[in-house]
Amino acid sequence: MPKSFTRRGFLLGAGAASAAILTSRRGFSLEPAGVSIDASQEVGLIRPELHGQFAEHLGSCIYGGLWVGKDSPIPNIDGYRKQAVEYLKGLVPVLRWPGGCFADDGVGPAAKRPRTVNVHWGNNTEDNSFGTNEFIGLCRLIEAEPYLSANVGSGTPEEMRDWMEYCNYPKGSSLSDLRAANGAPEPFNVKYWGVGNENWGCGGQMNGDEYATLYRRFSNYARPFSETRPFLVACGPSGNNQDWTRKFWGNMGTRRAVQGFAMHFYSRGANFSTKFSPAEMQQQFSSFPDIEKAILEQRALLDTYDPQKQVGLLLDEWGVWDRMVPEEQTQYGRLFQQITMRSAVAAALGLNVIHRQAGKLVMTNIAQIVNVLHSMLLTDGPQCVRTTTYYVYQMTKAHLSQTSIAVAVEKPEPVGLSVSASRRGGELTLTLVNPKPDAGMTVNCSLAGASARSATARILHDADLNAANTFATPDRIAPRDHQIAVEGARIVTDLPPLSVLTAAVRLV
Ligand code: AHR
Repeated sequence: MPKSFTRRGFLLGAGAASAAILTSRRGFSLEPAGVSIDASQEVGLIRPELHGQFAEHLGSCIYGGLWVGKDSPIPNIDGYRKQAVEYLKGLVPVLRWPGGCFADDGVGPAAKRPRTVNVHWGNNTEDNSFGTNEFIGLCRLIEAEPYLSANVGSGTPEEMRDWMEYCNYPKGSSLSDLRAANGAPEPFNVKYWGVGNENWGCGGQMNGDEYATLYRRFSNYARPFSETRPFLVACGPSGNNQDWTRKFWGNMGTRRAVQGFAMHFYSRGANFSTKFSPAEMQQQFSSFPDIEKAILEQRALLDTYDPQKQVGLLLDEWGVWDRMVPEEQTQYGRLFQQITMRSAVAAALGLNVIHRQAGKLVMTNIAQIVNVLHSMLLTDGPQCVRTTTYYVYQMTKAHLSQTSIAVAVEKPEPVGLSVSASRRGGELTLTLVNPKPDAGMTVNCSLAGASARSATARILHDADLNAANTFATPDRIAPRDHQIAVEGARIVTDLPPLSVLTAAVRLV
């Protein structure tokens, strides 16, 4: 039994949910919160791709993070950090690479291995020892689907089509033979191809109309080089910029060489990651209703050009982007930030939005997987720490391939209780997030369209919003079992302040 709630305290909270505000043994108040879940109202499939990740050549995400090199004293599997591979295996359905803005530096076929300057992220040189073959090797090791992002801003249609041929053509052409000579006789069969990145910004400073003209040229040569038909992703807006979407689709007309349209939406932070005040945290969390609104409005706008819904909406960069600590960036690379309890709550608020809007999205990719922004893992020499983001993805993995079902919070607040639920057959998965730093909640869920038989729950919680799994305290925050009660149409649990809970509910 968790220390914070006695059985008696828990039941008291549940029974009196509509009446009083109770106080837990730890001293914080327990506000009653009502949720309704309708297991018969299906929202859409939570595709595995909705829990995608992003690996960019930025800071120490690749070099020194995922890739330590074959001769490293750090335990590795053919150059890949062994601990990272073990932690990530099975947790990353799809992995986007190599950028981001780095996509517009052009990586090219692996055999060339030029020393290039990463102009977007510090002008440092890269030896390209981690190229296409190594990326695909990583994807195979961690069981992720690759998603390649091609260079449009400073690249050519020829480079992109050659990259596709290199990856996907089975054998017999110079490029497919080059792949084989580089150790990969079998085609990579890469399905997901981004046609540029942020072409409204680092990818060329264009407007949607200019980009659409370029997109038509690039996509014209992006043919299927194997049985794997490419799923071409066009650059979508920054946040909810509707002008970009209108200009792009206004130019594209009814041409259908677009399978995906990818928006980016970051949640900016006003302070260094471990120095947030409750007010700064609240301000960052208030971006999540905006993200949900942006998904709904962008999908609705897309529907006016694509009434058959043949084009999928992606959110292929999202996550918290706090103020950077200069010394940390010097030591660990650009855009390195510590991942805290606040970051975990933010990840879970984002995933709840994504689950609730599963019917409107085909892929999302949090930025980035290691050592950059909203990471799963942080590394320092041989050390590899699982962050709170890692645990949120681990806990919520059960939603994948389940059907999202309708949920409603009785008294919604912009930064209040957040819920998502999904089901497959007799299994229901429920994620509850309490983003408040000073108030616990007794959550009373009423279930329609199904009846619950039993439930178990895991919780991620720390009372300190700035607490983190650091290199000195790598295991401070990890999921624990938590008490939850079910009784037919009712599921009840207490949430301490700043907590993420996922319940596995068995239905009758
Ligand atoms: O994630 C960091 C950067 O943010 C990416 O390179 C770019 O696409 C975005 O602006």
